[in-house]
Amino acid sequence: MKPVTYFLLLSLLGATGCKNNPRQNETAEASALSVKVSDYGQTVEGPAKLYTLTNSKGIQVEITNYGGIITRLLAPDKNGQFADVVLGFDKLEDYLQNNSPYFGAIIGRFGNRIAKGAFSIDGQQYALAINNAPNTLHGGAAGFDKHLWQAREIGREGYAGLELNRTSPDMEEGFPGNLNATVRYLLNDDNELLIEYEATTDKATIINLTNHAYFNLKGAGNGDILGHELMIAASRFTPVDSTLIPTGELRPVAGTPFDFKNPTPIGARINAGDEQLRLGRGYDHNFVLDKSGQGLELAASAFEPTSGRFLEVLTTEPGIQFYCGNFLDGSTVGKGGVKHEYRTGFCLETQHFPDSPNQPGFPATVLRPGEKFASKTVYRFSVKE
Ligand code: BGC
Repeated sequence: MKPVTYFLLLSLLGATGCKNNPRQNETAEASALSVKVSDYGQTVEGPAKLYTLTNSKGIQVEITNYGGIITRLLAPDKNGQFADVVLGFDKLEDYLQNNSPYFGAIIGRFGNRIAKGAFSIDGQQYALAINNAPNTLHGGAAGFDKHLWQAREIGREGYAGLELNRTSPDMEEGFPGNLNATVRYLLNDDNELLIEYEATTDKATIINLTNHAYFNLKGAGNGDILGHELMIAASRFTPVDSTLIPTGELRPVAGTPFDFKNPTPIGARINAGDEQLRLGRGYDHNFVLDKSGQGLELAASAFEPTSGRFLEVLTTEPGIQFYCGNFLDGSTVGKGGVKHEYRTGFCLETQHFPDSPNQPGFPATVLRPGEKFASKTVYRFSVKE
């Protein structure tokens, strides 16, 4: 090819690229995606760091590798004003005190309750730490939320990313197998925080990983969450007994205060005198998502009318725990000195169903050597009128 033809061809390609290639824009925006790291303090397992993921729209997510805790999440309201929409504490020491109700943390090895801390795999019985008598809750006395994770920034096109990794040793909290777990937090310019969970084991075990962020779309510390209009894409939920263990029934939500198929304020029916609401002290239940496949699907959304903030939750998981902060009682002091009062945050914990290892009718949570556990959840932020 003659040099001049070659030059012409190149510039032609370049011009087309500029006009029509959407990746040009992506790259421009991607350059605004960033990860910043700072020191966060000392834990018994070593120094903790704080990672700040930022996108070009100004969304910021702060995550510490202690417990993988999301400590801060700045999202804009309908006037472009940013507020921190997750509950938590101002500093590491407060998380280390051991009285955090799992604010923003990674939950493992097993999200929610296992009846009496007992289960068996292939005829082998296991006994877990009982930390929520008479049951095991969120992985036992020192679950994934109370350990330091190895952390590294990761590059993925279109995302600012943090990867956390931890090997939970065989029989930690009573769970069998050395479990290698990876959790990735990835923020993009569509205001989506993607969380990827992966795990492998060297012995048959059980697994159920989630994140325990408490949201208040008015901004943390700005009152209760009862006015948020909640949607949960679930026709059934799993009713519980007096210790919050599922009875095994998949009960239709139709005609009950658990029907959130159409957006409904959280507080609209919370005092309806319903037996399940009495047992949960409000909403603290697993919903059976109406999923059509294994992919990421919309599971829930929450709209806060005064700020216009809108949160959508997508997941590959079969269930979601809707918990509305019924156990918050003002006994812990949060960011800016504001107490965590009753029902001032809500959680949408994507998960397999509580107590699955003891419930043959629920989707299985057993992980075997050679298999890979993988699950994804997206928290997407936007505004609506
Ligand atoms: C559980 C609640 C529990 C809360 C925090 C939720 O996932 O369902 O019962 O109180 O976590 O401790």
